[in-house]
Amino acid sequence: QTLTQIKQRGKLIVGTEPTFPPFEFVDEKNQVVGFDIDIAMELAKRLGVKLEIVSLPFDSLIPALQQGKIDLAIAGMTITKERAKVVDFSKPYFEANQAIVVRKDSKFEPKKLEDLVGQKVAVQLGTTGDLVVSDITGINVVRFQKFTDAFLELQNGRVDAVVLDEAPAKAYVKKFSKFSISSIVDTGETYGIAVKKGNKELLNFVNQTLDIMKGSGQYNKLLQKWFE
Ligand code: ARG
Repeated sequence: QTLTQIKQRGKLIVGTEPTFPPFEFVDEKNQVVGFDIDIAMELAKRLGVKLEIVSLPFDSLIPALQQGKIDLAIAGMTITKERAKVVDFSKPYFEANQAIVVRKDSKFEPKKLEDLVGQKVAVQLGTTGDLVVSDITGINVVRFQKFTDAFLELQNGRVDAVVLDEAPAKAYVKKFSKFSISSIVDTGETYGIAVKKGNKELLNFVNQTLDIMKGSGQYNKLLQKWFE
């Protein structure tokens, strides 16, 4: 979609997977909110159109972009070589590492990914967390579409750990006092906003908006709002 087509349509369609606080999650009013959603709102505002948020499983976001069902994927999505072959990414807008989350009462304190060998570990299907644990032989990986379900399994003792990005891990641990972060795995990831491959016009617009938001202090305000 060109910017003109998006303006004619009157709405910007953004895909996300909303079990990833504080980037995107469902609040008490059943609204999808978060850091990424505020960025999406700013993009729509600058285009002079409405924002439509489409919630999809994380591993469906890239196919949805390719099929033109969504204009952008804003989902705390790590820029990886594999993904960059099939979609285009904006400039990096956030840095991330993986975290290992366990039940406090379990006395299981993995300090590195290798400590998860022989254990049952929940991840979100298709995420970088999925990739790093699946790379190690001997880990029993259980894949979920929603992080909320992965944490339910951890709570019920059906898995021994959940591996996910650090900021959402902190958000879940804050919300559920039963969990704790046993270690951070330095993966050195950065998040980008994804557009359909070749959509330069939309990509430039996204990059310009990120620059403006950073320059004006609006970006820092959002960090303060969502990462206190
Ligand atoms: N950063 C990780 C990845 O790109 C996890 C992203 C999950 N995002 C989400 N909205 N569920 O694979």
